[in-house]
Amino acid sequence: MKESKHIAINEAKWDKWAGTLDEKGKRNDYLRKAQNDVIALLEMSEDIRLLDIGCGTGKALAFAAEKNNGKGEFYGADLSEKMIEKAKETFKGEENFHFIQANAESIPLPDHSFDDIICTHSFHHYLHPIKALNEMHRLLKPAGKLYLLDPTTDGIMMKVIDKIVKLTDKAHVKMYSTKEFKNMFSVAGLRYLDSKVIMGPVKVHIGRK
Ligand SMILES: C[S@@+](CC[C@H](N)C(=O)[O-])C[C@H]1O[C@@H](n2cnc3c(N)ncnc32)[C@H](O)[C@@H]1O
Repeated sequence: MKESKHIAINEAKWDKWAGTLDEKGKRNDYLRKAQNDVIALLEMSEDIRLLDIGCGTGKALAFAAEKNNGKGEFYGADLSEKMIEKAKETFKGEENFHFIQANAESIPLPDHSFDDIICTHSFHHYLHPIKALNEMHRLLKPAGKLYLLDPTTDGIMMKVIDKIVKLTDKAHVKMYSTKEFKNMFSVAGLRYLDSKVIMGPVKVHIGRK
C-alpha cells in the first residue's frame, strides 16, 4: 500500500477511536494496565524527560507523573490529530506536559533529548519500523532506554492472528517476534537488554542506546 494511503487510513482509524479510548470497559482497563506495567519498570528521577510515542490520549504520561510526584517533563507524540486534541484538553494548564501530532517515523523534537521512551500497543501500525526505531535512537540521550510494548509473535498462533488481523484491518502493518525485535533494535543501533511478558503474548522489549 502507498505510504500516503496508509497514513490516511491509520489516522482516520485512530481519530475515530479518540472519542472512546478513555471510556470505562475491558479494553480500556487492559490498555491502562499494560501502560501502568511499563511505567512500573522505569527508573524515575526528579528531572526525567520521558517521551511516549503513539501516546493516544496521554494516560501513560499521567501514570508516570503520578509515580514521580509530578516531577519531570512529559512528552507525547501521536499520528492522530484527535488523540492529540484530547490529550491537550486533558492536560490543559499543566506546563510539564507537551503533546505533538507526528508520525513515529519523523518526530520534530531535538536529538538526544529523552532519558526514556515508551511505546505501547502502537508499533504494529508503523509502515517503516526501522525508521521509527532510528527516530527513537536519535531522540534518546546516550544510555537512554526504550520500552516497546506490543503483541509479540513468538508462537505459531500469534503468527496466524497477525496474518488474519492484517487482512481485516488496513491500519495494521505487522506484529514481530522477539527475534525480529532483537534484529531491528540492533539495526537501529539499540542494544537489546531484556523482555518481560505483560500478559499472554504481549511483551515489553527493552533496549538501551
Ligand atoms: C491502540 S492505541 C494505543 C494508545 C496508547 N499508547 C495506549 O497504550 O493506550 C494506538 C495508538 O498509536 C497511534 N499510532 C498509530 N500509528 C502511528 C504512527 N505511525 N505514528 C504515531 N502514532 C501512531 C494511534 O494514533 C493510536 O493513538
